[in-house]
Amino acid sequence: MNWVYIKDFKEHVGQQVTVRGWVYNKRKSGKIRFLLVRDGTGLVQSILSKAEMAPEEWEKFSDLTQESSLEITGRVREESRAPGGYELDVDSINVIQIAVDYPITPKEHGVDFLLDNRHLWLRSSRQYSIMQIRNEVIKATRDYFYENDFILIDTPLITGSIGETASTLFETKYYDFGKAYLAQTGQLYLEAACMAFGKVYCFGPSFRAEKSKTRRHLSEYWHIEGEVAFYENEDNMNMQEDYVAYLIERILDKCRHHLEKLERDISALEKVTKPFYRVSYDDTIKKLQELGSEIQWGDDLGATDETIFTEQYDKPVFVYNYPVKTKAFYMKRNPDNPETVLCSDLLAPEGYGEIIGSSQREDDYDLLLRRIREEKLPEDAYGWYLDLRKYGSVPHSGFGLGLERTITWICGLHHIRESIPFPRMLYRLYP
Ligand code: 4AD
Ligand code: MG
Repeated sequence: MNWVYIKDFKEHVGQQVTVRGWVYNKRKSGKIRFLLVRDGTGLVQSILSKAEMAPEEWEKFSDLTQESSLEITGRVREESRAPGGYELDVDSINVIQIAVDYPITPKEHGVDFLLDNRHLWLRSSRQYSIMQIRNEVIKATRDYFYENDFILIDTPLITGSIGETASTLFETKYYDFGKAYLAQTGQLYLEAACMAFGKVYCFGPSFRAEKSKTRRHLSEYWHIEGEVAFYENEDNMNMQEDYVAYLIERILDKCRHHLEKLERDISALEKVTKPFYRVSYDDTIKKLQELGSEIQWGDDLGATDETIFTEQYDKPVFVYNYPVKTKAFYMKRNPDNPETVLCSDLLAPEGYGEIIGSSQREDDYDLLLRRIREEKLPEDAYGWYLDLRKYGSVPHSGFGLGLERTITWICGLHHIRESIPFPRMLYRLYP
């Protein structure tokens, strides 16, 4: 058997090949039958002609249902009008299994139904394009950090020191220690590693017990974090801008057909070039008030604020130097205004909002200890972290990008749930 993948048809024109896959769709027209078959690498229209097939092979068509699995053997023919540019003239079919009552039909389904059937929904063409883009964003991320001399440091997923805030922790039992937490971030460990390696990054899952239902939050998401010794907040923003522009360039280069399939406005992504906008928190508040928000200086930006603010921009915008009380304990106090910290969030345009949180880190032992106490965090758990401020402390900065938030924006999705294969959310643990 000459088993080939549909994506490689161009190398097999005129040859007899076998495709192994699933029935996507079928239809009849006179003495011709059409089977649309997918194999994970593409879709091919297969043509059955009564005049040219053995009767017993021809008969198999009528039993086939959507998502039945099969091996289909035929000759590859170039056909510019066909999706993908090739068709298969079928000689024979080996039915592997007949799918009975596949629940996801070509008609419209509600989103809860689709999420309940996420294990099957992944087979649809729209989900296929989203996952291909996700795959490319991940590859581009690895390439970016490698090309820029960062070392990958895998940080622990079970931790004793709270990385962000106590409010969204998942707890688990942990031997004689009593409890441990699922990591909200790898940052504290990256800070240790950057003092050893200079430029470091991590890429793994982060866990947040988000107790409200929103279209931007998952309970488990993939987190890409970078940390660099001797970088100040300005260097940090430059690095993020460079990385995000690199991601967009790569997706426009490699995934244009998937963006088209998703009906993404590609011209909006083409505008995402360096430099991005930079607006201070103070100016952001003024602008939001002009736009009709009731936000006051000192408040964090709510979801609606992020939406109306970023609808004003055609590229990502950094909002920098937030008030101390809106941000985590480790951010460095702003020497020009101690009410604020040296930090920035990167907000995606078109109403998407925050995709990156970042800051310069507090590098002074006493100030950091004071902040840990103010936040009522358990001091004992931070001995090792405070050590970094005792043994050759230097300015350092880093950021964390939410993979799914970024994919939601790139793909132009309405809700974050479609950007990850199996989303974990407040009301969802299965499939
Ligand atoms: O802004 P956050 O909380 O920052 C940190 O965790 C820092 N320690 C990062 C760092 O400086 N190394 O989270 C970073 C990003 C957010 O901007 C957002 O994109 C994403 O992580 N994120 C979530 N994505 C999906 N679901 C959630 N519940 C998320 N919470 C944060
Ligand atoms: Mg944040």
